[in-house]
Amino acid sequence: MTDDRPAAEPDRPASKSDRPYDLVLFGATGFTGGLTAEYLAGRADAGVRWALAGRSIAKLEDVRDRLAAIDPALAELPLLQADTADEASIERVAASTRVVISTVGPYVRLGEPLVAACARLGTDYVDLTGEPTFVDRMYVKYHEQAVRSGARIVHACGFDSIPSDLGTYFTVQQLPAGVPLRVEAFLRVHAQFSGGTLHSAVGIFADLPSMLRAERDRRRAEPASTSGRKVSLERGPIPHTRAGWTVPLPVIDSQIVARSATALDRYGPDFTFGHFLALKRLPAAVALGIGTGVAIAAAQLPPTRALLLKLATPGEGPSAARRAKHWFSLTFAGEGGGKRVVTEVSGGDPGYDETAKMLAESALCLAQDDLPETAGQVTTAQAMGNALIDRLVKAGLGFRVLKTS
Ligand SMILES: NC(=O)c1ccc[n+]([C@@H]2O[C@H](COP(=O)([O-])OP(=O)(O)OC[C@H]3O[C@@H](n4cnc5c(N)ncnc54)[C@H](OP(=O)(O)O)[C@@H]3O)[C@@H](O)[C@H]2O)c1
Repeated sequence: MTDDRPAAEPDRPASKSDRPYDLVLFGATGFTGGLTAEYLAGRADAGVRWALAGRSIAKLEDVRDRLAAIDPALAELPLLQADTADEASIERVAASTRVVISTVGPYVRLGEPLVAACARLGTDYVDLTGEPTFVDRMYVKYHEQAVRSGARIVHACGFDSIPSDLGTYFTVQQLPAGVPLRVEAFLRVHAQFSGGTLHSAVGIFADLPSMLRAERDRRRAEPASTSGRKVSLERGPIPHTRAGWTVPLPVIDSQIVARSATALDRYGPDFTFGHFLALKRLPAAVALGIGTGVAIAAAQLPPTRALLLKLATPGEGPSAARRAKHWFSLTFAGEGGGKRVVTEVSGGDPGYDETAKMLAESALCLAQDDLPETAGQVTTAQAMGNALIDRLVKAGLGFRVLKTS
């Protein structure tokens, strides 16, 4: 592997303890960023030094006014101006803090400058991306540099992919160690998406060849596993199970779980994972398949892509009243070494309220908790594991063992 460090770059940048902030939230003016800011306002310890960042100070002031209504002490919360098109402003954000949260997406278009700065400066980073192209490109370009600087780059700290990643980690810990394990996850969900999520998803659909190229480049760059562990993913057709009609979910979660399983010995010598959406009725499963096919086809041509993007505007998302009716439950069936276990991760509005909670708690966990030493692009299970599960349970998410046999 080539060494792309500039000659003068130190292996580990100067101590991060003298930086002015523990946490900076970049993208605080967006829909999910605003919810994350409100969560931090209500839950972060008084000792946490944090700031908001975004491209418009006037919009950040509006967010800060909302936060001051939650906690008057936040009326003076520092505001940092930063635009992804202005590299120096992004560098200033990354240099000012120990941990940065980014809700600035679509990440494949807007995310790279901040990951690059964090990898260079040793700043821990969390985001909400579910875009495999982005995650794979960031691995190829910045993983080695982040390992050298000590930065923990943790993508997918929202509904993509914390319930899957930490739910699998939780399930594996209920099974015997040192034996082959199989875990299948079945998602049931009632929710609606935001404009930012729609625009990110259409971006993925519109450029599937780039996703495949990025995946191939990553495979070439990744060192061969030294553990000898075999990790496999199930991708079956629609079978009928106790969970209902189950459709394989082609989202980033399986890749994230596979990376945790490759990195951590607790997943055993041979680990298999399957990730499915469970629907009560066959017509709903078929309609979902057809709908996804139509959306992918529409994303290929500019006029139909423009129509798709009009379905929701960036900055907007479901109202609080709607979100209050949303819920999710991810049921895991695990087996190995003669033991079976059924577990569940569950919560309220998955895409936004629970996502804001998961993202904020991930950042607080990196900033405050005693964690295993990791660096580079790492998953939530690798970087935070049970410390983050404990935080999420305290914050109201369910991690439960339903049945063992
Ligand atoms: N995986 C998950 O579970 C999950 C859940 C929720 C969201 N997400 C992802 O999170 C991202 C945000 O979603 P959202 O609904 O919150 O989107 P959003 O409301 O459109 O917010 C986007 C944010 O990015 C900022 N921004 C845009 N261009 C910028 C630039 N050049 N420089 C600096 N900031 C810039 C916007 O600032 P302005 O206010 O100035 O426009 C805004 O703060 C999306 O990629 C979405 O897919 C993922």
